[in-house]
Amino acid sequence: TWTMANVVEEQVERIRAQVGEGRALCALSGGVDSAVAAALVQRAIGDRLTCVYVDHGLMREGETEQIERDFVAVTGVDLRVVDAREQFLGALAGVSDPEEKRKIIGREFIRVFEQAALDVVGDAKEHGDTVDFLVQGTLYPDVVESGGGTGTANIKSHHNVGGLPEDLQFTLVEPLRTLFKDEVREVGLQLGLPEAMVWRQPFPGPGLGIRIVGEVTQERLDTLRRADAIVRAELTAAGLDREIWQCPVVLLADVRSVGVQGDGRTYGHPVVLRPVSSEDAMTADWTRLPYDLLARISTRITNEVPEVNRVTLDVTSKPPGTIEWE
Ligand code: XMP
Repeated sequence: TWTMANVVEEQVERIRAQVGEGRALCALSGGVDSAVAAALVQRAIGDRLTCVYVDHGLMREGETEQIERDFVAVTGVDLRVVDAREQFLGALAGVSDPEEKRKIIGREFIRVFEQAALDVVGDAKEHGDTVDFLVQGTLYPDVVESGGGTGTANIKSHHNVGGLPEDLQFTLVEPLRTLFKDEVREVGLQLGLPEAMVWRQPFPGPGLGIRIVGEVTQERLDTLRRADAIVRAELTAAGLDREIWQCPVVLLADVRSVGVQGDGRTYGHPVVLRPVSSEDAMTADWTRLPYDLLARISTRITNEVPEVNRVTLDVTSKPPGTIEWE
């Protein structure tokens, strides 16, 4: 709409005024907010923006490619992808406790991003330049919630960790500070971002790492990724993406049950479907998905993912259940 076109123009002007001839850095997470913020800043300052994407190996099928390929194709953004998959798997080896997993994933993310940021800063320095700005996809509701503060930050304080090299002190650029989520999506569409990215449902930072009940391994991630891809494809085909808030698929990796698949007895794992309806994720109700859709999902998963021999449905509201299982 014309209003959103105005928003884009206005924000681009503001960013230019703030950043001037300076350079900026942005961490892409795969989420809507960081993608739209980065696309806006790219439009304003071009290749004086460098984006960093940490591939922790915990994303869903096609998501990393969406950023590496589609997002870059549309925006022309200067992107550095850090392949940290081995590092994350190594750090998560032997860990089953949910809070422990979150801590490890958060810690490794900061380590990897900090190093990448130092590299970007170092490269600029070689050309007699500095990187003074950090782009963040802060939305209006986040601003209200945190009391309206803005200004400077470093990468660690953003992630609630103390202490950092001088080199990584930044002034924040927050082009989405006045917008609500639906407006951010509009801006994203206006900027030509892929629909799948603009309409992406919430997905937790620790990714599939907290959707495997038990230890996170490469094999389990592959299993969950395949089951999850089927669920997402079927929900999309049924036209339900925008109806439901999100639908985590959880692999009960430490549980096995007997089944019969093909010619023989199997001893596989269950997956749990967790479709929820919600306004803000604070409370949620389990979504009454049509039975035939559930049947299709179940048949496809047990046919196409040999490690999974049972598909179950979570019919718990929040509270008492959280949306995620970990
Ligand atoms: P719960 O499980 O607490 O989830 O009902 C509420 C919403 O938050 C998302 N979620 C997270 N998002 N980092 C995130 O960025 C996290 O560690 C995290 N844990 C949960 C969850 O997907 C749901 O939308």
